[in-house]
Amino acid sequence: MRIAVACDHGGFVQKDAVVEHLRSLGHEVFDLGTNSEESVDYPDYADRAARMVSRGEADRAVLLCGTGIGISMTADKVPGVRATPVQTVKFAELARQHNNANVIGLSGRFVSLEDNLKLVDTFLTTEFEGGRHAARVEKIMREDDPAFQGVDA
Ligand code: RB5
Repeated sequence: MRIAVACDHGGFVQKDAVVEHLRSLGHEVFDLGTNSEESVDYPDYADRAARMVSRGEADRAVLLCGTGIGISMTADKVPGVRATPVQTVKFAELARQHNNANVIGLSGRFVSLEDNLKLVDTFLTTEFEGGRHAARVEKIMREDDPAFQGVDA
């Protein structure tokens, strides 16, 4: 799989290990930084990775910030992206099975590297279930369409 990885200073402590883990599994990894603990703005890093997914240049993205929240919130605004923070294996699994998430946000400050690698593995190996979830995911994606005026319009 082609995987974009990006982080801010809050995720940097784990980023290189995540990149190394993904490469050891044979994935093609685009390491988009940041590359130090110097303070940066997570939306800039989320944007670069999410746009690679949006353009079809990466299949998935794994993002890290302090909580995984801000970097996911930013990525999710990019068309074609379904991003969510995940803190448990069950949520990583459901984000794939029910929501067809293509981007996850990890916490570099509140979740251990060992646990985050389990979340990454689950994210990459769990299939979207489709079926009743497919129509709902299509409804998520209509929010990307500027012509969509809302369900009650
Ligand atoms: C940076 O201090 C922190 O706000 C950021 O890493 C992230 O947790 C935001 O959601």
